[in-house]
Amino acid sequence: RSRRRREATPSLSLPQRPRRLRQSPALRRLVGETRLHPAELVLPMFVKEGIDEPVEIPSMPGVMQHTLDSLEVAAKEAVEAGVGGLMLFGVPTDKDEIGSGATDPEGILNVALRRLRDALGDSTVLMADLCLDEFTSHGHCGVLAEDGTVDNDATLLRYAEMAVVQAQSGAHVVGLSGMMDGQVAVCREALDAAGHTETVVLAYAAKYTSALYGPFRDAVESSLEGDRSTYQQDPGNAVEALREVRLDLAEGADIVMVKPALPYLDVVSAVAAESDVPVAAYQISGEMAMIEAAAAKGWIDRDRMIHEALTSIRRAGAQIILSYYAVEVARALRA
Ligand code: PBG
Repeated sequence: RSRRRREATPSLSLPQRPRRLRQSPALRRLVGETRLHPAELVLPMFVKEGIDEPVEIPSMPGVMQHTLDSLEVAAKEAVEAGVGGLMLFGVPTDKDEIGSGATDPEGILNVALRRLRDALGDSTVLMADLCLDEFTSHGHCGVLAEDGTVDNDATLLRYAEMAVVQAQSGAHVVGLSGMMDGQVAVCREALDAAGHTETVVLAYAAKYTSALYGPFRDAVESSLEGDRSTYQQDPGNAVEALREVRLDLAEGADIVMVKPALPYLDVVSAVAAESDVPVAAYQISGEMAMIEAAAAKGWIDRDRMIHEALTSIRRAGAQIILSYYAVEVARALRA
């Protein structure tokens, strides 16, 4: 079968040709609207009590439960790579009803904060997860009432104490991730009363009940049964997210966050329009797991997907992104 060469068609007169700006890498670079920068990426890190060697989390390839020593090494590497901050999570050996380890100055998270603040000083922004779920035997983010429900106000007392201990241990930022009503106000007041007026409050303002937290619960060895739907938001609600953000801003939040990130970009965008403080988004464990699993099957290009996901989160309006890929991406951006 003979294949006829296509004859050149005369050009049409099209005044609008958007493709003009896409014709070369140099032009595409020039007109790029969204750029990632290492300084806006925050690395979440896990430190586990009572282990001698770091342990890889199976559902989060490359992410470790660190020992205090390996945590310090990895934190220094992250700072070296230029990331904007570190978000620390503790995995205690002993968990109890009220999450005692969270407020014990010798609890793993507080010990790790002191260790990193000593090692890194103010060369990075040290953040601490402020929540009880890593420390409670039942795995809920707060303390339980007699009837088994999460007791909002009793939990606030625990959070207030936790905020002060974390600040004393060296956290520059406390990350309030428990979704209790009034948590920002109560922690702000407790910090100020203890003289920690400069400690920054990052509020997980709009945090959704999500199937994407699974790998994280492996990472912190959570014993949660059931879900967090009485305190975390329903995935279908966006107006409610704006209410949460307004309340947190009124209570004194310095940074507000939306979480998870990729399935909630409309919320990120709406919050960015509403907020007069920096907006963060958390690319959580399950978002990572989806990328890794699909890439392992050869179904998507891992590196392109990571870049695309982070760029999209940035484009939606997040100024700060928490991501397990922070160091890898920071290095790639600098290369
Ligand atoms: C609460 C907290 C969670 C995450 C961050 N802070 C877990 C939860 O709400 O169940 C999830 C982070 C991730 O999935 O990567 N301490």
